[in-house]
Amino acid sequence: MVHPRVINGDDGVTGDFGYLVSLLLTDRYQPGDAYDAQFCGGTLTTPTTVVTAAHCVVDERNGTVRTPREILVGIGPNLKSASLLVVAVAAVTPNPDYARRNASDDVAVITLASPVPNATVLPAATAAEAAALTAPGSLVRVAGWGRMSTGQQTYPATYRIGRLVVFPDESCGSGVPFTISGVRFNGFPASQADAQSMLCAAGVTSTGLVIDSCQGDSGGPLVAGSGASARLVGIVSWGKECATNFAGVYARVSAEYDFLVAQGAAGPPPPVAPTQPPTIAVLPQPGSLVVTFIAAQDGSKATAFAASVVDPTTGQTWSCFTAPRKDGNPPGCTVDGLTDGTTYQVTAITGTTLGNSPVAGPVDATPTLVPVVGRITKATRSNGRIVVRVTPSQSTASAITSLQVICTPARGLTLVADVRDGRATVLGARKVRYGCVLRATNDVGPADSPVVVVRSPR
Ligand code: ARG
Repeated sequence: MVHPRVINGDDGVTGDFGYLVSLLLTDRYQPGDAYDAQFCGGTLTTPTTVVTAAHCVVDERNGTVRTPREILVGIGPNLKSASLLVVAVAAVTPNPDYARRNASDDVAVITLASPVPNATVLPAATAAEAAALTAPGSLVRVAGWGRMSTGQQTYPATYRIGRLVVFPDESCGSGVPFTISGVRFNGFPASQADAQSMLCAAGVTSTGLVIDSCQGDSGGPLVAGSGASARLVGIVSWGKECATNFAGVYARVSAEYDFLVAQGAAGPPPPVAPTQPPTIAVLPQPGSLVVTFIAAQDGSKATAFAASVVDPTTGQTWSCFTAPRKDGNPPGCTVDGLTDGTTYQVTAITGTTLGNSPVAGPVDATPTLVPVVGRITKATRSNGRIVVRVTPSQSTASAITSLQVICTPARGLTLVADVRDGRATVLGARKVRYGCVLRATNDVGPADSPVVVVRSPR
């Protein structure tokens, strides 16, 4: 079957895709004719940076990176046109995380030797922008000078455009099929695709043909949104042949954003308002509660955390505040002056420059003390054993984790026995004096009763 291409795509419209560039092999390039030199696509995200696929610039066999002199960048829709603008390259930087084995993190930045005059640029999508632009079923477009047919080696002089649909992540790494306009696509299994760093997309024409990128389109843009809100969301990366019942796979640009910022190909992400409460953990302490915060991964940047503690019976309220920690560990703050054994309600928020998050909690928490330990009421000796009777011990909140009688002689081995039903039998006593205590332990720590002296048997 012959598929029209990109595969089953449309003609590029002059003026559209002004940020689309062609990567040219310097030693094949003839002035006025870039057609035979073109090997990949790319996107101008700033006037001096082209974002492309790492596999376009890294040798698949030995990992060698193409040098700046080996590549030229063509700006213009038609590779055979004399008005194609050709620019030299200053640096070629693949993402160090790029893995040739499975093409994860398939992104590279080409830094131009000089800025493109009057450049049309397409900004890379941040995580927050991508969340909205690449939801399953979103309409996106791909463009490039790649193969137009699976049957023949036909390539266009002017780039082609494919109108595609974004697949859900479970069809791009969890094997779930996805259907577009009645055409069923197989989902890639986890062994092949990784939705963290990859995004799957394919299209179907009105006559039911599959639309896909193909060889030669690699490195080129997958674009979502329109006008000023259009963003680069994907980079042509790989596929199972072209226009089959498998999606084309694109490097997920939002997952590469930090790399793009480091290479000057994207600006720092704009602040995002928080939408999720923090996760909190409350540790009861004697007379206080320690609240630990973990900010939600909602794209917002925490500048402060606050916890509030309320006594639900009196309505009295306490609070504490803290800032994010430089070492990345979860920050915490302590509310003091609380009453042991009283159960309080704890809530918390994350603060950002764009406002506060929703409220986490309430979580119930009770400040605790060490247990109120009972006493030894009777200790009797009979050859080698000390039988001890004790009164009950209590713990205000956290349960007693161990209850023991501990008998220590003036010299020699200390003896220990667990208390059961108010009674402990200490074995191995020698014919010396022992000092015995009852020790009750909870999460906060141990508490000992007064010492009872147990005399040596006659
Ligand atoms: N790796 C190809 C290239 O170098 C791109 C393949 C895209 N394939 C697909 N079916 N979408 O040009």
